[in-house]
Amino acid sequence: MTHYKEIGLSNTKEMFSKAMEGGYAVPAYNFNNLEQLQAIVTGCLESRSPLILQISKGARKYANQTLLRYMAEGAMEIVNSSEHPIPVALHLDHGDTYELAVSCIETGFSSVMIDGSAHAYDDNVALTARVVEYAHKHDVSVEGELGVLAGIEDAVSHEATNYTDPDDVEDFVKKTGVDSLAISIGTSHGAYKFKVKPGESPPPLRFDILEEIEKRIPGFPIVLHGASSVLPVYVDMINEYGGKLEGAVGVSEDQLRRAAKSAVCKINIDSDGRLVVTAVVRKMLSEDPKNFDPRKYLGPARDELIQMIIRKNREVLGSADRA
Ligand code: G3H
Ligand code: 13P
Ligand code: ZN
Repeated sequence: MTHYKEIGLSNTKEMFSKAMEGGYAVPAYNFNNLEQLQAIVTGCLESRSPLILQISKGARKYANQTLLRYMAEGAMEIVNSSEHPIPVALHLDHGDTYELAVSCIETGFSSVMIDGSAHAYDDNVALTARVVEYAHKHDVSVEGELGVLAGIEDAVSHEATNYTDPDDVEDFVKKTGVDSLAISIGTSHGAYKFKVKPGESPPPLRFDILEEIEKRIPGFPIVLHGASSVLPVYVDMINEYGGKLEGAVGVSEDQLRRAAKSAVCKINIDSDGRLVVTAVVRKMLSEDPKNFDPRKYLGPARDELIQMIIRKNREVLGSADRA
């Protein structure tokens, strides 16, 4: 067993209590490869933001869980030897079994999500409580989920949104002992979150549900999944250089700013990073068809991703200068 503290990682407890008090949200960025990891860590170090590095099922399948975990350990050497280190949590995104959560905890993750939202309520409670019991013995944080987001959650695809029922949250938190709760208030995974006509803005999130949840579990950290903004500048760049992302729409930055000021303490962003990398790679390859050196198109993609992360932390989540 490697405990996360041996690698210099932190759990999310203090991150969330500070975020709650300070009225901002900690960014949770997904990584699948070296360039994403470098960009996320550099962007958060430069903006002095706390960071949750998260690893999904897709990432584990693509890059191997052990390799990703050692990449995170390498990144921590850089973080902790920097002039101004930041707290970093290594988090399992959408864990779906007890065994997976245990294997992550045993190899150095400091936080795990157990997503039992596809199960019946009582089964979700039982699975989540079992993970919490094991995780808390090792001082590892646990995120649970109530309600279902439309779109794809790892391999599971849901047609329709099932908003979180505020009547369930108090009971769920009490019975499971989770440290944070992911809720469904209108966001969804991926780059097609809302169907809107050209020129129309996407519908607002269900802040009424969030407010009701805050009343039932005051001061409890809430997590927002599916929170990419699908920034038009990158969608347009992708389409300009041969891509075909029609009707891609995300959560507006105003909505995220409002959420970050509330009990929402963790905001999950994956698709925005993918869009940046794809846009820059398309542009680079199109502008220089002779380029066959991945460093010469992935490097600029990484630089752009750093800038996106700094801007997001500073202007949307409010996490910059909080570390
Ligand atoms: O939960 C959603 C994340 O964006 C992960 O997606 O499994 O394709 O890596 P992925
Ligand atoms: P996006 O697809 O909106 O980036 O959501 C990512 C996420 O929720 C990862 O768990
Ligand atoms: Zn998610």
